[in-house]
Amino acid sequence: MIDRITADKIKEAAQIVDVVSDFVALKRSGANFKGLCPFHDDKTPSFMVSPAKNYCKCFACGKGGNPIGFIMEHEQMSYPDALRYLAKKYGIAVEERELSPEEKAAQNERDSMFILNDWALRWFVSQLHDSTLGRTIGLAYFRERGFRDDIIRKFQLGFCPDSRDDMTQAALKEGFREDFLTGTGLTIKREDGRLCDRFWGRVMFPWHTVGGKVCGFGGRVLNAATKGVAVKYQNSPESSIFSKRRELYGLYQAKTAINKLDLVYMVEGYTDVISMHQCGIENVVANSGTALTKEQIHLLHRFTNNVTLLYDGDDAGIHAAQRGTDMFLQSGMNVRILLLPDGDDPDSFARKLSAEEFRSYVEEHQVDFIKFKTDLLMEGAKGDPVKLGGLINEVVTSIAVIPDEITRSLYIREAAQTMMMDEQIIVRAVQSQMSRNREDEYKRRNGVTPLKEATVEGKPETVPVQPAMDSRDDKMELLLAQMVVKYGGIKVCEAVDENGVEIPLTVAEYIFHSLAQDGVSLHNDLAKSIIDETMLHVKEVGFDSVAFFLEHSDRNLSAKAFELMTDREQLSRMHDDEASLVSAEKLLDRATHLLADMKLSIVRKEIKSVMEKIKSVSPGDANAQSLLMRFKELKESEGRLAKVCGDRVM
Ligand code: CTP
Ligand code: MN
Repeated sequence: MIDRITADKIKEAAQIVDVVSDFVALKRSGANFKGLCPFHDDKTPSFMVSPAKNYCKCFACGKGGNPIGFIMEHEQMSYPDALRYLAKKYGIAVEERELSPEEKAAQNERDSMFILNDWALRWFVSQLHDSTLGRTIGLAYFRERGFRDDIIRKFQLGFCPDSRDDMTQAALKEGFREDFLTGTGLTIKREDGRLCDRFWGRVMFPWHTVGGKVCGFGGRVLNAATKGVAVKYQNSPESSIFSKRRELYGLYQAKTAINKLDLVYMVEGYTDVISMHQCGIENVVANSGTALTKEQIHLLHRFTNNVTLLYDGDDAGIHAAQRGTDMFLQSGMNVRILLLPDGDDPDSFARKLSAEEFRSYVEEHQVDFIKFKTDLLMEGAKGDPVKLGGLINEVVTSIAVIPDEITRSLYIREAAQTMMMDEQIIVRAVQSQMSRNREDEYKRRNGVTPLKEATVEGKPETVPVQPAMDSRDDKMELLLAQMVVKYGGIKVCEAVDENGVEIPLTVAEYIFHSLAQDGVSLHNDLAKSIIDETMLHVKEVGFDSVAFFLEHSDRNLSAKAFELMTDREQLSRMHDDEASLVSAEKLLDRATHLLADMKLSIVRKEIKSVMEKIKSVSPGDANAQSLLMRFKELKESEGRLAKVCGDRVM
């Protein structure tokens, strides 16, 4: 129990910016600070921290609070534990009375497991440094590998003797309960009921959460035993406090450097991280031999936007790099790749170089994903159209997952140059890949196949990538957004899913599908956010778009949506029949018209540009044929769209 006066002292001392900064990289934004939300998969900074109000909040997911609330949520701590955490951070002494046995028993499982792990960490460390066995076997092993003492201390490396149950017995004597010993995996209960140390005879690498608590361990067999059947590394099993897919080895020791340098090196193993620190490079983490996960990327993204993958140049390394690349791109991060010379891993490499040399080697040799993929595949693809197609596909798939449009177009240009191809071809390939991705994403979320029936003419239109926006385009997008704000949740037609079941479709979904089907992406940010936000919630029971936007936690979005709702003359000249609009039929009709109008405008711009090109090619040119084909396609689409639009003059 913490007394009232101490609790007040802690509350006074805790500064929100300071507290949040331990977990999220913050940038100043006016009087406030902003960063990527640690509570959801945030791609653009939605997490606001207000020093004046001593308060933080995510505009997208709504989580946040005062310093205590933030720590409770983030570290999954109880109120008193959050107070203790802050007391420690601010050096405030906490007088606590002894817990009663009942209170001890009532402590939640996670807390107890963390406490046990913390004890085990100190036990392993003391075994390494203070016992004869530890020094002659464990410490000798680390030194032989060239680890300096300060680095051994920094990573809190330890030793577990090979007596089978020394650690377990010591823990039981301390009063730790058997179920927590087996729960953390420190102890294994054998079939005959005997308790045995999981890590006996291993040197120990503790894992820390980003906040610094010990959540798990990796134990390596010593050289002599490696030859036998023993698995080289044993890791803590999955538990309520440890999941290998959610943690990154070394992040706790690296986060300050990552933040400062705005760059992280991603490596594979424990020893890579440690050797790089020893060589003076501290912005490094490992995903420890497993496939990279979304959760790990999300965790890293809070600290930086830039990652360089440092992998061995062998097949496994290449494979890992290929897999990792798209995942980083998808999260909006910049990713570069460096495959080390064959036979080296970052561990062996770092031991040969100074930090300066290491960094400049990386600077010189790292490549972006386009170069990485083309280097790998171009050699075999020369003069082989099938392989070349495969390569283009690889590159296009990667570009299509990048969320930011400008970044995408820069990579498209680079890909065109690197592969010596027409940029427009890549643009179109990326566009259609994106629309496939959107369909998949929609199916994944809603379990429905996007509709085909309810579209303008049944068959997808040839709508090209939009050229630059003009004010009319902008207005059309806002008109669509306006419909979504006002009527987004109203059912207007049915779509048929893959099992032939009819599924009701709302205004928002109809618009979303229709755009996705023709690969049209919106340019207006407000229109985009409105449609995306609505799609995320429209399936919820009782969804009402007006109420949804009025109560939206993003006050800025809410205000803009409100303007759209009430704007009766600026955008729409249709307000006269406003009252009659609210029938499903009328809404569908209006949405169809708006969409056709918008697509028509895009198609017409493209027709113009194709005409220009046709004029400039000579008749014998190989391009002439395909330009003419395209022209014909576009004209057909134009005709169909114009017919829909002509039914009603906007
Ligand atoms: N790993 C693991 N379990 C295994 C093998 C590997 O968890 N059975 C993880 C460890 O985090 C390891 C990383 O995958 O650090 C990379 O494996 P490897 O390259 O085999 O090990 P190194 O880190 O190079 O270790 P060492 O140099 O001691 O052999
Ligand atoms: Mn190694």
